[in-house]
Amino acid sequence: METKRIRRQQQQQQPSPGSGSHEPENEEGASQALPERKPLWGSVRPPVVLAGFLLMLLPLIFIIYSRTPSLDWICNCRAGRVEGRAESFEATAKHGSENCSFASPNNTKANFLNENVTKNDFLQKNVTEDNDLQKNITEDNIHQKNVTKDKLLGGLLAAGFDEGSCLSRYQSVLYRKESPHKPSPYLLERLRKHEALQKRCGPNTKPYKKAIDRLKPLGKGKKRKKGYSNETTECGYLTVMPFSGLGNRIMSITSAFLYALLTNRVLLIERHSGIGDLFCEPFPDTSWLLPQDFSPRNQFRSLSKTSPQCFGNMLKNKVMGNGINGSSNESLSPYVFLNLANGYSDFDQLFFCEDDQRLLRKIPWLVVSSNQYFVPALFFIPTFEEELGRLFPERDTVFHHLGRYLFHPTNPVWGLITRSYESYLTKADERVGLQIRVFNGRTNPLEYLNRILKCALEEKLLPNISLHGPVVSTSTGAKSKVVLITSLDSTYFEKIRRMYWEHPTATGEIISVYQPSHEGAEQTGNTTHEMKAWAEIYLLSLCDTLVTSTWSTFGYVAQGLAGLKPLITMIPSNPDCRLAMSMEPCYHFPPFYGCKAANTSVDAGAVLPYVRHCEDMKNGLKLV
Ligand SMILES: *[C@@H]1O[C@H](CO)[C@@H](O)[C@H](O)[C@H]1NC(C)=O
Ligand SMILES: *[C@@H]1O[C@H](CO)[C@@H](O)[C@H](O)[C@H]1NC(C)=O
Ligand SMILES: *[C@@H]1O[C@H](CO)[C@@H](O)[C@H](O)[C@H]1NC(C)=O
Ligand SMILES: *[C@@H]1O[C@H](CO)[C@@H](O)[C@H](O)[C@H]1NC(C)=O
Ligand SMILES: *[C@@H]1O[C@H](CO)[C@@H](O)[C@H](O)[C@H]1NC(C)=O
Ligand SMILES: *[C@@H]1O[C@H](CO)[C@@H](O)[C@H](O)[C@H]1NC(C)=O
Ligand SMILES: *[C@@H]1O[C@H](CO)[C@@H](O)[C@H](O)[C@H]1NC(C)=O
Ligand SMILES: *[C@@H]1O[C@H](CO)[C@@H](O)[C@H](O)[C@H]1NC(C)=O
Ligand SMILES: *[C@@H]1O[C@H](CO)[C@@H](O)[C@H](O)[C@H]1NC(C)=O
Ligand SMILES: *[C@@H]1O[C@H](CO)[C@@H](O)[C@H](O)[C@H]1NC(C)=O
Ligand SMILES: *[C@@H]1O[C@H](CO)[C@@H](O)[C@H](O)[C@H]1NC(C)=O
Ligand SMILES: *[C@@H]1O[C@H](CO)[C@@H](O)[C@H](O)[C@H]1NC(C)=O
Ligand SMILES: [Mg+2]
Repeated sequence: METKRIRRQQQQQQPSPGSGSHEPENEEGASQALPERKPLWGSVRPPVVLAGFLLMLLPLIFIIYSRTPSLDWICNCRAGRVEGRAESFEATAKHGSENCSFASPNNTKANFLNENVTKNDFLQKNVTEDNDLQKNITEDNIHQKNVTKDKLLGGLLAAGFDEGSCLSRYQSVLYRKESPHKPSPYLLERLRKHEALQKRCGPNTKPYKKAIDRLKPLGKGKKRKKGYSNETTECGYLTVMPFSGLGNRIMSITSAFLYALLTNRVLLIERHSGIGDLFCEPFPDTSWLLPQDFSPRNQFRSLSKTSPQCFGNMLKNKVMGNGINGSSNESLSPYVFLNLANGYSDFDQLFFCEDDQRLLRKIPWLVVSSNQYFVPALFFIPTFEEELGRLFPERDTVFHHLGRYLFHPTNPVWGLITRSYESYLTKADERVGLQIRVFNGRTNPLEYLNRILKCALEEKLLPNISLHGPVVSTSTGAKSKVVLITSLDSTYFEKIRRMYWEHPTATGEIISVYQPSHEGAEQTGNTTHEMKAWAEIYLLSLCDTLVTSTWSTFGYVAQGLAGLKPLITMIPSNPDCRLAMSMEPCYHFPPFYGCKAANTSVDAGAVLPYVRHCEDMKNGLKLV
């Protein structure tokens, strides 16, 4: 079996013919992690900060004067007062406090009575009936829900967390539409079991300490033996070293979590990946971060694809393999490094084979390094496939459920999200998210913009403009849409904003355009930058429709959390956009399925009916 997939290194390097210069694994900032594949930011223009700031105010004012007086305005006045902290919100704040009389006096009164105007702290917002009353002023939406009813998202989330320490966990239901996809009862059961495991075996528990001892070689000093104890440990562990940009790290953590769930291992994340600043703890009464004092940290950090503990090397060197199943070899390492990042070897890819999974069962510590969404390939392992079918009867909901289960913005990020949402998004009848990410720096951004707009217009996500003079604004019935743009650049925002400012829409719809930030370049490892990036992903996930960019894990996260199939733009060799087959992320660099078929490479997209090649990457795989 060891000889079976010594082939296709070239294919690994060239995932998508004709697009050799794109950097899917690098998007949202992998450049530090993968220096050999530096992204080409060439055409991304440096942000013209002041101009951008001023321009951002314009659509707001435009909207203010073109909108009908309506109940929405109460919301805006309120938002102005409460949220007028960020500089770009000041225009709103001013309008709001100067005159809020668009609203009928009755409603204004009710609203302002409820409002604690002095309390300028959104982070302290409390999900109670009082807040619910205060929030259901606008007619058109989400706030009318009974917050206490489904704040656990159909049982997906565990009850009993301290709400104040992570407001987003139970408040997300106030902002996101109810998902039509219900988690299966079996998934809920397994999640509760897993939470119990994380608590029982997590950091600073007895089993945890015992498992750490197991990492120490036998004997001491000169008496040190070659081997390790073969004592069994009560709990198995999976530590994750996610890397690349934020989207990629979310992909790899989700995949690792699912693998941990399937194999009853405790999931622990290396903290240098910035996870603690971005996400709340997902498991009650324990931590998913490797403790500061985790003694084998350096031992684990030095692992690489060339280490003897790398699974692929162990198979290649026959340290492990058929007949050497790890249960009796005294000297077998108590930890194994799993290289599941792009560019992994054929031997590393044997991870996705049933026989090889068996070898790993007895290893107390697995160390995964990945930047990929490797979930689809877990379905190739027969024992997992059966279990996965029970966990996810709708197979295209894996990320939708696990993403909403695992990733809750920390309070500072939640502040960014709610302030943006309430100032710019809540008042529109419909929210359209445009996620624009250009990997191939050689292409003109304006050409891309034209393609994206053409797509959005043809698919009727956005109305076309009218060149035949202004359409008389039939104010009362006019629908309003807000376009949320996320991009490192501000060019797209400026162009779209200007388009709708200078011309009326053919439909009479009122369009506002909002872009929270344009950071110019990605800065992985910069916490402030990443908090904003996470806030933007989350805001996209609160939209009603999405247009995403090819290869972008940023878009994958948003569509998965939202439960939406996006329109994917900028697919190579396809000038148009496509509606995604499913809301699942794409596994960019999957193994070539060939566990049984020896040295033949099998079309992995044809093995299982619900694992197909991605729309945006020819060799990639996604669940549908
Ligand atoms: C707000 O506008 C109303 C008329 O629409 C006016 O009576 C009122 O004085 C204004 N209030 C302020 C503070 O300008
Ligand atoms: C608004 O208030 C006036 C008196 O201030 C009252 O006559 C009217 O019924 C109220 N309207 C509503 C919708 O409550
Ligand atoms: C308003 O906020 C202040 C300070 O945060 C607090 O002491 C007071 O109880 C609040 N009032 C209401 C009605 O919530
Ligand atoms: C809030 O909603 C409830 C039920 O949907 C309604 O009875 C109540 O009048 C609403 N409150 C306000 C202030 O609109
Ligand atoms: C909200 O849900 C709680 C518990 O399910 C229930 O007691 C309460 O009556 C509900 N409130 C509304 C306004 O529906
Ligand atoms: C939320 O409100 C409840 C009841 O009003 C209170 O007991 C709790 O401390 C509040 N939590 C926060 C974080 O303010
Ligand atoms: C551990 O190794 C010893 C010999 O080295 C062997 O006798 C024993 O059965 C092994 N225990 C387990 C659990 O494999
Ligand atoms: C593992 O190896 C031992 C001895 O080498 C053997 O008895 C056992 O059947 C093997 N187990 C599996 C699952 O291959
Ligand atoms: C592991 O044990 C097998 C026999 O069970 C032996 O052939 C093999 O050499 C051992 N591997 C190492 C690395 O000691
Ligand atoms: C939008 O309108 C312009 C001018 O009226 C027209 O040239 C263009 O073809 C329209 N685009 C779409 C996609 O309908
Ligand atoms: C981190 O990003 C923020 C913008 O989000 C920027 O202001 C700051 O200078 C950056 N810090 C570093 C060290 O690059
Ligand atoms: C597998 O490889 C062997 C030599 O390594 C070759 O003889 C055989 O034809 C190959 N089988 C297939 C199906 O390609
Ligand atoms: Mg990414």
